[in-house]
Amino acid sequence: MAKGPVTLSIDVGGSNIKAMPLDAKGKPLADRIKLPTPRPARPNVVVATIRQVAAQAGAFDRVSVGFPGVIRDGRVLTAVNFDGKWAGFDLQTAVQTALKRPTRVLNDADMQGYGAIEGRGVELTVTLGTGVGSGLFVDGRLVPNLELGHHALRKGQTYEEQLGQKALDRVGKRRWKKRLKLAIAQIQRVFWPARLCLGGGNARLIDWTLPEGVVVVPNEYGILGGIALWNDAK
Ligand code: BGC
Repeated sequence: MAKGPVTLSIDVGGSNIKAMPLDAKGKPLADRIKLPTPRPARPNVVVATIRQVAAQAGAFDRVSVGFPGVIRDGRVLTAVNFDGKWAGFDLQTAVQTALKRPTRVLNDADMQGYGAIEGRGVELTVTLGTGVGSGLFVDGRLVPNLELGHHALRKGQTYEEQLGQKALDRVGKRRWKKRLKLAIAQIQRVFWPARLCLGGGNARLIDWTLPEGVVVVPNEYGILGGIALWNDAK
């Protein structure tokens, strides 16, 4: 039996919705469960899929959700890679009602960042998947809402337009890698992070030696970071 509350940590991604129960210290209690993200990804069907994933996860006391959009007080402000009316949708209450457990929702890259950080100085996590996400931390404290993916990178295009899944499919790995090298250099010049953590599914394509302070982190951190949402809870 697990000691303390079990947190069901859910990572809502562009391709899959994944869930894993974590013990009070954030250690996995079971294998990851995964279902494809429904398309079109409208609020009600996404919540229904979260419910299906949770139904396979065994017993849990509370829920953390990492979501690919800007979140404020549990509400989605924008989710550019999903369909339907997300702006203003109270995802936290919707999941809490569906799963009947206390729920906290956070941006997916912020959640991944919580899994990746060491807690000292400026640390930035950038996720490379369907979209490009970012989570900025100072001495372990989250600086919310950084949407680096939607900032200009080159040729009038954003990081996400240049490095998201669609761009990778369009231009191929070689050019995508060149762009990523440029992006890393640019991020270092702008943020001077003590650590720059690169995550998300496409970080697996990194096959060159990264500059000092830049590391690839396992995609699982997206789920493992879910425990940090409850750090203030007794
Ligand atoms: C969204 C971010 C999200 C990222 C990765 C971007 O398009 O705006 O909020 O973190 O994709 O999923």
